[in-house]
Amino acid sequence: MSSLSVNHLLGIKQLNKNDIELILNTAEYFKGVINRPIKKVPALRDLTIANLFFENSTRTRLSFELAQKRLSADVVNFSASNSSVKKGETLIDTVNNILAMKVDMVVMRHSSPGAAMFLSKKVNARIINAGDGAHEHPTQALLDAFSIREKLGALKGKKVVIVGDILHSRVAISNIFCLQKMGALVKVCGPQTLIPKYITSLGVEVETDLRKALEWCDVANMLRIQLERQDIKYFPSLREYSMLYGLDKHLLNSLSKEIVVMHPGPINRGVEITSDVADSKQSIILDQVENGVAVRMAVISLLAGRPVGE
Ligand code: CP
Repeated sequence: MSSLSVNHLLGIKQLNKNDIELILNTAEYFKGVINRPIKKVPALRDLTIANLFFENSTRTRLSFELAQKRLSADVVNFSASNSSVKKGETLIDTVNNILAMKVDMVVMRHSSPGAAMFLSKKVNARIINAGDGAHEHPTQALLDAFSIREKLGALKGKKVVIVGDILHSRVAISNIFCLQKMGALVKVCGPQTLIPKYITSLGVEVETDLRKALEWCDVANMLRIQLERQDIKYFPSLREYSMLYGLDKHLLNSLSKEIVVMHPGPINRGVEITSDVADSKQSIILDQVENGVAVRMAVISLLAGRPVGE
Protein backbone atom coordinates (compact mmCIF):
# COMPACT_ATOMS: atom_id res chain seq x y z
CA MET A 1 0.00 0.00 0.00
CA SER A 2 1.42 3.40 -0.96
CA SER A 3 -1.38 5.85 -0.24
CA LEU A 4 -3.38 6.95 2.78
CA SER A 5 -7.09 6.21 3.23
CA VAL A 6 -7.71 9.90 4.08
CA ASN A 7 -7.36 13.22 2.19
CA HIS A 8 -6.59 15.25 5.33
CA LEU A 9 -4.84 14.51 8.62
CA LEU A 10 -7.47 15.68 11.10
CA GLY A 11 -6.86 13.15 13.86
CA ILE A 12 -5.52 9.66 14.54
CA LYS A 13 -9.12 8.51 15.00
CA GLN A 14 -9.67 8.67 11.22
CA LEU A 15 -6.52 6.64 10.40
CA ASN A 16 -6.33 2.87 10.19
CA LYS A 17 -3.38 0.66 11.12
CA ASN A 18 -2.14 0.53 7.50
CA ASP A 19 -2.13 4.35 7.33
CA ILE A 20 -0.06 4.58 10.51
CA GLU A 21 2.36 1.89 9.33
CA LEU A 22 2.74 3.65 5.97
CA ILE A 23 3.48 6.98 7.69
CA LEU A 24 6.02 5.42 10.09
CA ASN A 25 7.78 3.50 7.30
CA THR A 26 7.88 6.59 5.08
CA ALA A 27 9.26 8.60 8.02
CA GLU A 28 12.04 6.04 8.40
CA TYR A 29 13.08 6.80 4.80
CA PHE A 30 12.96 10.54 5.47
CA LYS A 31 14.98 10.14 8.68
CA GLY A 32 17.72 8.78 6.44
CA VAL A 33 17.34 11.81 4.15
CA ILE A 34 17.64 14.40 6.95
CA ASN A 35 20.80 12.73 8.25
CA ARG A 36 22.58 12.98 4.89
CA PRO A 37 24.99 15.87 4.17
CA ILE A 38 22.34 17.20 1.72
CA LYS A 39 19.17 17.01 3.79
CA LYS A 40 16.74 17.85 1.01
CA VAL A 41 14.70 16.14 -1.72
CA PRO A 42 12.99 17.91 -4.65
CA ALA A 43 9.70 15.99 -4.18
CA LEU A 44 7.37 18.93 -3.48
CA ARG A 45 8.96 21.81 -5.36
CA ASP A 46 5.63 22.54 -7.13
CA LEU A 47 3.65 22.71 -3.84
CA THR A 48 2.86 25.73 -1.63
CA ILE A 49 2.00 25.14 2.01
CA ALA A 50 0.62 27.64 4.55
CA ASN A 51 1.31 27.17 8.26
CA LEU A 52 -1.50 28.83 10.22
CA PHE A 53 -0.83 29.12 13.93
CA PHE A 54 -3.67 30.58 16.02
CA GLU A 55 -1.98 29.26 19.21
CA ASN A 56 1.61 29.38 20.44
CA SER A 57 4.07 26.70 19.32
CA THR A 58 7.81 26.14 19.14
CA ARG A 59 8.40 22.48 18.17
CA THR A 60 5.40 21.84 15.92
CA ARG A 61 5.68 25.10 13.95
CA LEU A 62 9.44 24.84 13.37
CA SER A 63 9.25 21.12 12.68
CA PHE A 64 6.53 21.54 10.02
CA GLU A 65 8.41 24.41 8.38
CA LEU A 66 11.64 22.44 8.32
CA ALA A 67 9.85 19.35 6.97
CA GLN A 68 8.32 21.44 4.16
CA LYS A 69 11.67 23.02 3.29
CA ARG A 70 13.42 19.63 3.31
CA LEU A 71 10.77 18.54 0.74
CA SER A 72 11.48 21.72 -1.34
CA ALA A 73 7.92 23.08 -0.93
CA ASP A 74 7.24 26.83 -0.88
CA VAL A 75 6.19 27.88 2.61
CA VAL A 76 4.20 30.79 4.02
CA ASN A 77 3.81 31.30 7.75
CA PHE A 78 0.86 32.95 9.42
CA SER A 79 0.60 33.76 13.09
CA ALA A 80 -2.77 35.03 14.39
CA SER A 81 -1.16 37.34 16.94
CA ASN A 82 0.10 39.79 14.27
CA SER A 83 -2.60 39.26 11.63
CA SER A 84 -5.95 40.77 10.57
CA VAL A 85 -7.66 38.23 12.87
CA LYS A 86 -7.01 40.97 15.45
CA LYS A 87 -9.24 43.25 13.31
CA GLY A 88 -12.11 40.74 13.40
CA GLU A 89 -11.50 38.62 10.26
CA THR A 90 -13.06 35.14 10.54
CA LEU A 91 -11.17 31.85 10.24
CA ILE A 92 -12.82 31.01 6.90
CA ASP A 93 -12.17 34.46 5.43
CA THR A 94 -8.56 34.32 6.61
CA VAL A 95 -8.01 30.89 5.07
CA ASN A 96 -9.84 31.69 1.81
CA ASN A 97 -7.67 34.79 1.37
CA ILE A 98 -4.55 32.70 1.88
CA LEU A 99 -5.81 30.02 -0.52
CA ALA A 100 -6.56 32.70 -3.16
CA MET A 101 -2.78 33.11 -3.32
CA LYS A 102 -2.63 29.52 -4.73
CA VAL A 103 -1.83 27.55 -1.59
CA ASP A 104 -2.23 23.74 -1.87
CA MET A 105 -2.00 22.58 1.73
CA VAL A 106 -2.76 24.11 5.14
CA VAL A 107 -1.20 23.14 8.46
CA MET A 108 -3.26 24.62 11.28
CA ARG A 109 -3.04 24.89 15.06
CA HIS A 110 -6.13 26.33 16.73
CA SER A 111 -7.50 26.49 20.26
CA SER A 112 -10.96 25.22 19.20
CA PRO A 113 -11.52 21.44 19.09
CA GLY A 114 -12.76 20.53 15.60
CA ALA A 115 -11.29 23.62 13.88
CA ALA A 116 -9.28 21.51 11.40
CA MET A 117 -12.32 19.32 10.60
CA PHE A 118 -14.43 22.47 10.06
CA LEU A 119 -11.82 23.87 7.69
CA SER A 120 -11.56 20.62 5.73
CA LYS A 121 -15.27 20.83 4.90
CA LYS A 122 -15.14 24.49 3.84
CA VAL A 123 -12.00 24.90 1.74
CA ASN A 124 -10.42 23.18 -1.21
CA ALA A 125 -6.97 22.27 0.16
CA ARG A 126 -5.37 19.43 2.08
CA ILE A 127 -5.60 20.14 5.82
CA ILE A 128 -3.19 18.94 8.52
CA ASN A 129 -4.23 19.37 12.15
CA ALA A 130 -1.25 20.66 14.15
CA GLY A 131 -3.29 20.58 17.39
CA ASP A 132 -6.93 21.64 17.94
CA GLY A 133 -7.68 22.58 21.54
CA ALA A 134 -7.84 19.55 23.83
CA HIS A 135 -9.01 17.34 20.93
CA GLU A 136 -6.15 15.84 18.84
CA HIS A 137 -2.48 16.41 17.96
CA PRO A 138 -1.99 13.66 15.37
CA THR A 139 1.57 14.38 14.24
CA GLN A 140 2.72 14.38 17.89
CA ALA A 141 1.25 10.90 18.37
CA LEU A 142 2.84 9.68 15.13
CA LEU A 143 6.28 10.97 16.11
CA ASP A 144 5.84 9.46 19.58
CA ALA A 145 4.93 6.10 18.04
CA PHE A 146 7.89 6.36 15.64
CA SER A 147 10.24 7.13 18.56
CA ILE A 148 8.99 4.19 20.64
CA ARG A 149 9.28 1.82 17.67
CA GLU A 150 12.79 3.10 16.95
CA LYS A 151 13.87 2.66 20.59
CA LEU A 152 12.14 -0.65 21.41
CA GLY A 153 11.94 -2.23 17.95
CA ALA A 154 8.13 -2.58 17.93
CA LEU A 155 4.90 -1.12 19.24
CA LYS A 156 2.84 -4.31 19.51
CA GLY A 157 2.66 -5.51 23.13
CA LYS A 158 4.61 -2.55 24.52
CA LYS A 159 3.22 -0.99 27.70
CA VAL A 160 2.94 2.80 27.70
CA VAL A 161 1.77 4.95 30.60
CA ILE A 162 0.72 8.54 29.93
CA VAL A 163 1.16 10.60 33.08
CA GLY A 164 -0.33 13.92 34.15
CA ASP A 165 -2.92 16.30 32.76
CA ILE A 166 -4.94 13.86 30.66
CA LEU A 167 -8.08 16.03 30.90
CA HIS A 168 -6.65 18.89 28.83
CA SER A 169 -4.31 16.87 26.63
CA ARG A 170 -4.72 16.44 22.88
CA VAL A 171 -1.39 14.56 23.00
CA ALA A 172 -2.89 11.94 25.35
CA ILE A 173 -5.98 11.35 23.18
CA SER A 174 -4.01 11.06 19.93
CA ASN A 175 -1.41 8.81 21.60
CA ILE A 176 -4.11 6.51 22.99
CA PHE A 177 -5.71 6.08 19.53
CA CYS A 178 -2.36 5.62 17.80
CA LEU A 179 -0.75 3.21 20.27
CA GLN A 180 -3.88 1.06 20.57
CA LYS A 181 -4.25 0.81 16.78
CA MET A 182 -0.65 -0.41 16.67
CA GLY A 183 -1.23 -3.05 19.36
CA ALA A 184 0.39 -1.34 22.36
CA LEU A 185 -1.19 -1.36 25.83
CA VAL A 186 -1.96 2.04 27.34
CA LYS A 187 -2.60 3.20 30.92
CA VAL A 188 -3.07 6.75 32.17
CA CYS A 189 -1.85 8.01 35.54
CA GLY A 190 -2.51 11.26 37.37
CA PRO A 191 -4.72 12.90 39.96
CA GLN A 192 -8.38 11.80 39.60
CA THR A 193 -9.32 15.43 38.91
CA LEU A 194 -7.16 15.43 35.75
CA ILE A 195 -8.46 12.13 34.37
CA PRO A 196 -11.68 12.41 32.33
CA LYS A 197 -14.40 9.90 33.24
CA TYR A 198 -14.81 8.74 29.60
CA ILE A 199 -11.19 7.55 29.42
CA THR A 200 -11.99 3.95 30.42
CA SER A 201 -14.46 3.75 27.51
CA LEU A 202 -11.39 4.04 25.23
CA GLY A 203 -10.04 0.79 26.67
CA VAL A 204 -7.50 2.56 28.85
CA GLU A 205 -6.86 1.60 32.48
CA VAL A 206 -6.42 4.27 35.15
CA GLU A 207 -3.68 4.05 37.80
CA THR A 208 -3.45 6.86 40.34
CA ASP A 209 -0.24 5.57 42.00
CA LEU A 210 2.74 6.75 39.92
CA ARG A 211 5.17 4.12 41.25
CA LYS A 212 2.78 1.27 40.33
CA ALA A 213 2.24 2.78 36.87
CA LEU A 214 5.99 3.07 36.28
CA GLU A 215 6.65 -0.49 37.50
CA TRP A 216 4.06 -1.71 34.93
CA CYS A 217 5.27 0.20 31.88
CA ASP A 218 8.04 0.03 29.27
CA VAL A 219 7.58 3.71 28.40
CA ALA A 220 6.42 6.69 30.48
CA ASN A 221 5.13 9.71 28.55
CA MET A 222 5.18 12.58 31.04
CA LEU A 223 2.72 15.31 30.02
CA ARG A 224 2.94 19.01 30.74
CA ILE A 225 0.46 20.50 33.22
CA GLN A 226 -1.55 22.81 30.93
CA LEU A 227 -2.21 25.69 33.29
CA GLU A 228 -3.40 27.84 30.35
CA ARG A 229 -6.37 25.48 29.79
CA GLN A 230 -7.25 25.08 33.49
CA ASP A 231 -10.06 27.40 34.55
CA ILE A 232 -10.25 25.98 38.09
CA LYS A 233 -7.69 24.49 40.51
CA TYR A 234 -7.37 20.73 39.89
CA PHE A 235 -4.72 20.17 42.60
CA PRO A 236 -3.56 22.23 45.60
CA SER A 237 -0.18 23.39 44.22
CA LEU A 238 2.48 22.55 41.61
CA ARG A 239 4.74 21.51 44.49
CA GLU A 240 2.19 18.93 45.67
CA TYR A 241 1.63 17.75 42.07
CA SER A 242 5.33 17.19 41.51
CA MET A 243 5.68 15.34 44.84
CA LEU A 244 2.96 12.86 43.81
CA TYR A 245 3.24 12.76 40.00
CA GLY A 246 6.64 14.21 39.13
CA LEU A 247 9.40 11.85 37.96
CA ASP A 248 12.80 12.40 39.59
CA LYS A 249 16.05 10.45 39.32
CA HIS A 250 15.56 8.79 42.71
CA LEU A 251 12.20 7.30 41.63
CA LEU A 252 13.51 6.38 38.15
CA ASN A 253 16.57 4.59 39.59
CA SER A 254 14.52 2.75 42.20
CA LEU A 255 12.37 0.95 39.58
CA SER A 256 12.95 -2.76 39.03
CA LYS A 257 13.66 -2.25 35.28
CA GLU A 258 14.93 0.48 32.95
CA ILE A 259 12.06 2.37 31.34
CA VAL A 260 12.04 4.87 28.46
CA VAL A 261 11.06 8.44 29.37
CA MET A 262 9.24 10.70 26.90
CA HIS A 263 7.80 14.21 27.03
CA PRO A 264 6.04 16.08 24.19
CA GLY A 265 7.43 19.43 25.35
CA PRO A 266 7.53 22.14 26.39
CA ILE A 267 8.91 20.76 29.68
CA ASN A 268 8.25 22.43 33.00
CA ARG A 269 11.52 21.27 34.54
CA GLY A 270 10.99 20.32 38.19
CA VAL A 271 7.21 19.90 37.80
CA GLU A 272 6.50 16.81 35.65
CA ILE A 273 10.13 15.70 35.39
CA THR A 274 13.36 16.91 36.95
CA SER A 275 16.27 18.11 34.82
CA ASP A 276 18.39 15.04 35.60
CA VAL A 277 15.60 12.79 34.24
CA ALA A 278 14.98 15.00 31.17
CA ASP A 279 18.69 14.89 30.33
CA SER A 280 19.29 11.23 31.32
CA LYS A 281 20.15 8.41 28.92
CA GLN A 282 16.67 6.94 29.48
CA SER A 283 15.08 10.10 28.06
CA ILE A 284 14.31 10.18 24.31
CA ILE A 285 12.88 13.71 24.38
CA LEU A 286 15.29 15.14 21.79
CA ASP A 287 14.90 12.03 19.60
CA GLN A 288 11.17 12.80 19.57
CA VAL A 289 11.95 16.30 18.28
CA GLU A 290 14.34 15.00 15.59
CA ASN A 291 11.83 12.34 14.53
CA GLY A 292 9.09 14.98 14.31
CA VAL A 293 10.66 16.42 11.15
CA ALA A 294 10.85 13.01 9.43
CA VAL A 295 7.29 12.11 10.45
CA ARG A 296 5.93 15.44 9.19
CA MET A 297 7.82 15.00 5.91
CA ALA A 298 6.08 11.63 5.58
CA VAL A 299 2.62 13.02 6.34
CA ILE A 300 3.00 15.94 3.93
CA SER A 301 4.38 13.89 1.04
CA LEU A 302 1.74 11.17 1.45
CA LEU A 303 -1.14 13.69 1.60
CA ALA A 304 0.31 15.38 -1.46
CA GLY A 305 0.10 12.01 -3.23
CA ARG A 306 3.89 11.62 -3.55
CA PRO A 307 4.81 8.38 -1.83
CA VAL A 308 8.57 7.79 -1.75
CA GLY A 309 10.08 5.55 -4.40
CA GLU A 310 7.51 6.50 -7.08
N1 CP B 1 4.76 19.25 21.46
C1 CP B 1 4.26 20.43 21.00
O1 CP B 1 3.19 20.49 20.39
O2 CP B 1 5.06 21.51 21.26
P1 CP B 1 4.75 22.99 20.78
O3 CP B 1 3.53 23.46 21.51
O4 CP B 1 5.98 23.80 21.12
O5 CP B 1 4.51 22.95 19.30
